Amino acid sequence: MFVAFFCLLLAAFTLLTRMTYSMALAIRREQARIEEEGEEANLYRLAKMEESQQWTYVGLVTVIVALLLCGYMAVLGTPWERHLMEWLNIVVRVMHMTFGIAWIGASFYFVFLENALNRTKDVREELAGNLWAIHGGGFYYLEKYKIAPAKIPKDLHWFKYEAYFTWVSGMSLLFVVYYFNASAFLIDKQVCDLTVGQAIGTGIGSFVAAWILYDTACKKGLARNGLLFSILGLGLSAAFAYGYTHVFSARAAYIHFGAMLGSIMAANVFFNIIPAQKAMVQAAKEGRPLDPMLGKNAALRSLHNNYFTLPVLFVMVSNHFPGTFGHEYPWLVLLLISAGVAGVKHYLNLREKGQLSVWVLPISVLILLCAAYVTAPPLHPEACGKVSFAQIQPIIAKRCTSCHSAKPSDDTWTAPPNGVVYDTPDDVVKMKDKIMERVVLTQTMPQNNKTGMTPEERELIRCWVAGLSQ
Ligand code: HEC
Repeated sequence: MFVAFFCLLLAAFTLLTRMTYSMALAIRREQARIEEEGEEANLYRLAKMEESQQWTYVGLVTVIVALLLCGYMAVLGTPWERHLMEWLNIVVRVMHMTFGIAWIGASFYFVFLENALNRTKDVREELAGNLWAIHGGGFYYLEKYKIAPAKIPKDLHWFKYEAYFTWVSGMSLLFVVYYFNASAFLIDKQVCDLTVGQAIGTGIGSFVAAWILYDTACKKGLARNGLLFSILGLGLSAAFAYGYTHVFSARAAYIHFGAMLGSIMAANVFFNIIPAQKAMVQAAKEGRPLDPMLGKNAALRSLHNNYFTLPVLFVMVSNHFPGTFGHEYPWLVLLLISAGVAGVKHYLNLREKGQLSVWVLPISVLILLCAAYVTAPPLHPEACGKVSFAQIQPIIAKRCTSCHSAKPSDDTWTAPPNGVVYDTPDDVVKMKDKIMERVVLTQTMPQNNKTGMTPEERELIRCWVAGLSQ
């Protein structure tokens, strides 16, 4: 039965893939005919063909999801389950990175264009400005229109799928890494004793709440005053950072902060920037006067997105830095770093516009230095008595090897996390610096203190490592 269903799905997959090919060919032929024979009559037919092509893609994606689900059910409970999740993680993560780079790259590029536009020398009346550039061995000359060209060109490039796909792949990754492993990664019982459903609901609900708050503030016109809006934004960010670190494990809190900002960015594109652009194109096609506010609002949202990029990028790599999320006040560190890097972005924007900004960069760097300072370990740790390996070995065996062993006994970790094992004395000694970092300085191990390590045990580990380093 199961095998028959699987074969059916495979057949549907092959058929649909083949269909996308023949449809694309047919559409190309139709386009060529319209070009030769003159337009209008066949345009309706073309639109219909394009619509069926899109439905074929929807069908294809549905079949792929069904195939993945089947695959998952087939390996459920076997050692391949983890392996499948790992590969899903790899595929979705690489997709997320690729779309994200395309999106943020385009965002940086267009804000740069806007900032660096020549608006004064030899600019035609209908233009806002132009710019010469050289890249990849070619010269480029770009022109920006004040409002819209007299005739909207047929081939107009839109930049939207980068944003949508970054968001969709990011949300998928959130599920693969955090929501499917909620009890291991998302929930920290010492922070807040949530059920899996409550935790996931809080996460997703928070993205919706953040968007509504931000969007309402923009619509009420608060965004017109840049300084006021920045202060308001910082306050809201602080509230979310504080809230997240009080419901989730610290690393999940960081990721949620980034996903919240990323969701606002994608929603800006989806609900604001693209609809405004569509309305502009439509008005220009119908020869109606353009509402200049449409473009202005879209530009403002786009600028907000630009300021969110660096904080989001930091958050996306923050999981590699337990020194940040492992701090006693993780929300404060997150806020300092976000404010610091957004300040750096502000400096870059001002520079591109050719404006002098003496204090923006030093203040931003100072904020980042503050973050580095508050996360620093004590410069003069308390003196230690001699601690031998024999004293700490039982602690490691009791608190760590349920996960960090070639054959873990933990209910979630069936393979040693990050490949780290503590089965022999040598294994422990060679990891001593990382153990110091994770167990003593940031206290991010044992993960969510699942094995109940005591402060006295941490102190013994500290003194053992300190003795080795002398
Ligand atoms: C409940 C399972 C679990 C227990 C118990 C646990 N760890 Fe971990 N450990 C993990 C996971 C998962 C990771 C990978 C994610 C991360 O780095 O936070 C990890 C990562 C680490 C790393 C980082 C490895 C790297 O490549 O950077 C160190 C060091 C570490 N653990 C030390 C310890 C020590 C020491 C103990 C015992 C005091 C311990 N862990 C107990 C789950 C656990």
